[in-house]
Amino acid sequence: MNNLPEKNEELGRIISQLKKEKNAVILAHYYQEPEIQDVADFVGDSLGLSQQAASTSADIIVFAGVHFMAETAKILNPDKIVLLPDLNAGCSLADSCSREEFKAFIDKHPGHVVVTYINCSAEIKALSDIVCTSSNAVQIINSIPADKSIIFAPDRNLGKYLMKTTGRDLLLWDGACEVHEAFSLEKIEQLQHSHPHAKLVAHPESDARLLARAHFIGSTTAMIQYIKNNSAREFIVATEAGILHQLRTDAPGKLVIPAPSFEANACACSECRYMKLNTLQKLYLCLKNESPEILITEPLRVKALSPIQRMLDLSVMPRETALS
Ligand code: 13P
Ligand code: SF4
Repeated sequence: MNNLPEKNEELGRIISQLKKEKNAVILAHYYQEPEIQDVADFVGDSLGLSQQAASTSADIIVFAGVHFMAETAKILNPDKIVLLPDLNAGCSLADSCSREEFKAFIDKHPGHVVVTYINCSAEIKALSDIVCTSSNAVQIINSIPADKSIIFAPDRNLGKYLMKTTGRDLLLWDGACEVHEAFSLEKIEQLQHSHPHAKLVAHPESDARLLARAHFIGSTTAMIQYIKNNSAREFIVATEAGILHQLRTDAPGKLVIPAPSFEANACACSECRYMKLNTLQKLYLCLKNESPEILITEPLRVKALSPIQRMLDLSVMPRETALS
């Protein structure tokens, strides 16, 4: 990494040049570092990123996100090179659901439609009937005939939210996101006292008691849209702090306060330690060296593709977001 320019702007320029030469596209999640979001061709939530991965004509996809996201891009693009700047960028939610345990769970409860949140491994997707993200989960559950029983994994908080919203009785896997479970309700209540007009905006991976207090619940993209379009001037945002970068552009002049977690850290906000493993330097090196690459065996890819494709078929991609 020694001879890399120290300034992010300069490294960003080199990355843009390299991207053109290699016909590569950079897809980044809102939880990535600001300098990574700034060099990306598309910044979005898990559904938007999957839709971009499914429709890109690039030869190389650099996925600035976590492993399950890049893996989904590879499942959709077996002939493209899919790169992840740091292969250790995992996810506590995905890790909470191993293939062996989940297979035993399904076998113990036969006759269920298996719906899995996209935050899981290819092995789990391969055991599923349909995948969903936080953007389309309600729609996916509602698409399943009312007489069918449903298993939902791995996020119990999203699962409970879906039960409440759709009125369906879901059999839940007991997994959770360590970032969204760490918000302190007590500290949020204190913030609400000092900012009585602030709207509480929460991601559905958060605990039910927090969601019960929220004025709006949605995916990261939906949260941004809500804050942008709502006439309120102050918002408390219960999701990973990386979202603040996009909000500075999309909702300038609004006061956006990151919801505090139990842990007292310098910024009192919540960061995903996996998402933050990616850096601009690692992104440059992975594009230059075309490594680390996401690889998947063909039989597993084919099994994991069907439930992802079913989700995409049910989710319309906004035309204005399509990359050329
Ligand atoms: P969305 O991208 O669907 O908003 O989910 C957030 C998340 O936790 C991704 O890991
Ligand atoms: Fe996984 Fe939570 Fe990090 Fe998203 S924020 S990648 S769900 S650990």
